[in-house]
Amino acid sequence: MIKIMKANESHVEGISSVCIRGYWSTYGESHSKEWIERVIKDFYSHERILRELTEFNRDWGGYFVAVENGKVVGAAGGGMIDEEVGELFVIYIDPTRRNEGIGTKLLNAVTKQQKEEYGAKEQWVSVQKGNMKGIPFYEAKGFKFQYEKVPEENPTYIKLRHSRKI
Ligand SMILES: CC(C)(COP(=O)(O)OP(=O)(O)OC[C@H]1O[C@@H](n2cnc3c(N)ncnc32)[C@H](O)[C@@H]1OP(=O)(O)O)[C@@H](O)C(=O)NCCC(=O)NCCS
Repeated sequence: MIKIMKANESHVEGISSVCIRGYWSTYGESHSKEWIERVIKDFYSHERILRELTEFNRDWGGYFVAVENGKVVGAAGGGMIDEEVGELFVIYIDPTRRNEGIGTKLLNAVTKQQKEEYGAKEQWVSVQKGNMKGIPFYEAKGFKFQYEKVPEENPTYIKLRHSRKI
């Protein structure tokens, strides 16, 4: 059975592993090795994840995890970007466990937090242009494409901003 819960320090290794494997499996063909390694080092190191598990607030609500038999099979988290506007910042499912409904459960947990604790009425997400492992999921959840964003640090990796009412 899969349990969705707020992550704690015992989940650091599992979150890191799911995010790193998820990132490679999502972007391994479209992004350079150097870029991927830098993102992984910046965002999914044990040190950073540990900090993000202990320091959370309205802007970053902490990680939620999907756990099966003690093993992390998915992780997600978000925060508020405006008074009544939330954003999903990260979501990865173990690449061998996609399309089993785990992502839906994690998105629901983040959405519940944003609505009930922080009063969100709208939710945004950024997805890499061409990410066909991500875009159909958001479309199935009612997110609608709003605009393209060209990141200053790397203009080739265009992001698509999507939003939905929650
Ligand atoms: C995106 C992701 C988090 C979704 O989690 P998941 O557990 O695979 O998704 P679910 O099984 O809950 O699927 C939910 C819905 O999305 C739809 N869906 C998911 N992937 C799809 C695809 N590739 N094509 C069509 N529909 C898809 C399912 O049909 C389902 O629809 P329903 O709820 O109406 O039945 C997961 O696939 C993942 O880790 N992808 C790679 C990483 C990534 O792209 N993350 C997002 C970065 S912005």
